[in-house]
Amino acid sequence: MLAKVSELKRSAVRQQETSEAAAPRSRDVAVSLKHCSLSFGSVKVLNDVTLDIYKNEFVSILGPSGCGKSTLLRLMLELLKPDTGGEVTYASKKPSIGIVFQKPVLMPWLTAIQNVELTLNVGPNKRMPKKERREKAENALGLVGLQDFRNHYPHQLSGGMQQRISIARALAADPEILLMDEPFGALDELTREKLNFELLRLWEDPSNSLSTVVMVTHSIQESVIMSDRVVMMSPRPAGVEALVPVPLPRPREVGMEEHPAFYQTVKELRKREKEQ
Ligand SMILES: Nc1ncnc2c1ncn2[C@@H]1O[C@H](COP(=O)(O)OP(=O)(O)OP(=O)(O)O)[C@@H](O)[C@H]1O
Ligand SMILES: [Mg+2]
Repeated sequence: MLAKVSELKRSAVRQQETSEAAAPRSRDVAVSLKHCSLSFGSVKVLNDVTLDIYKNEFVSILGPSGCGKSTLLRLMLELLKPDTGGEVTYASKKPSIGIVFQKPVLMPWLTAIQNVELTLNVGPNKRMPKKERREKAENALGLVGLQDFRNHYPHQLSGGMQQRISIARALAADPEILLMDEPFGALDELTREKLNFELLRLWEDPSNSLSTVVMVTHSIQESVIMSDRVVMMSPRPAGVEALVPVPLPRPREVGMEEHPAFYQTVKELRKREKEQ
């Protein structure tokens, strides 16, 4: 019951936040990028990206292929450094970040369950008893519907199944921030929709730590059904072309594609995409 009440509260806060999404005011920033530019040799990829992403926010990133979306995520992960003058900061010194790369990165010599356990074998989770770690990994595999494939090796799984293992691995460690690079791109429509909503339920659930999600996607519809705000990137060198709030109520449900706000937001994003 308590959990239910806090869930409702959290959902109410999110609804309020959603309506303020166009001009967020005194909200807690989870990740902040300030004047981030980045070049690979003579190729300028990112151009002066300034973007605040808030706690309890679900943000999607859209943009043309090759514009720099994956590069932006790698910047957030601090795998890359912005050019001089740029800055990436986090609210806490050591936030726990889960990452799903565009291509599944699995260890070929480990089974599905062992691949998921990888994130539990480092950091604070390492101190957890082995049995508990196994349980967490099993739960995460269940979330992506692959519990029956726990003992399969990556080469015995399809590309979409491998990506689902990557998602399970990112979720198993109960991160505060989840960065995902086209996580559902390789999936059929039904599985994709199922996982979209599984992820939303997980993010809404106050009993786990997940607070902020940043998801790169090529699907306008997916970005709208999932997010509070959509970041539209311009072609390379990419900057933030537009920040589009999604005024759909939470929790998001199957069938909300019929909602006028869904249709309006999709229309606006399509228009902006065409104008690029
Ligand atoms: N390590 C690298 N070295 C040199 N150039 C790179 C490197 N990584 C990315 N690039 C270049 O940066 C640009 C942006 O690449 P990025 O992968 O970020 O695009 P993207 O928006 O994620 O594209 P897609 O939608 O196709 O995944 C491309 O021109 C790419 O060739
Ligand atoms: Mg990419």
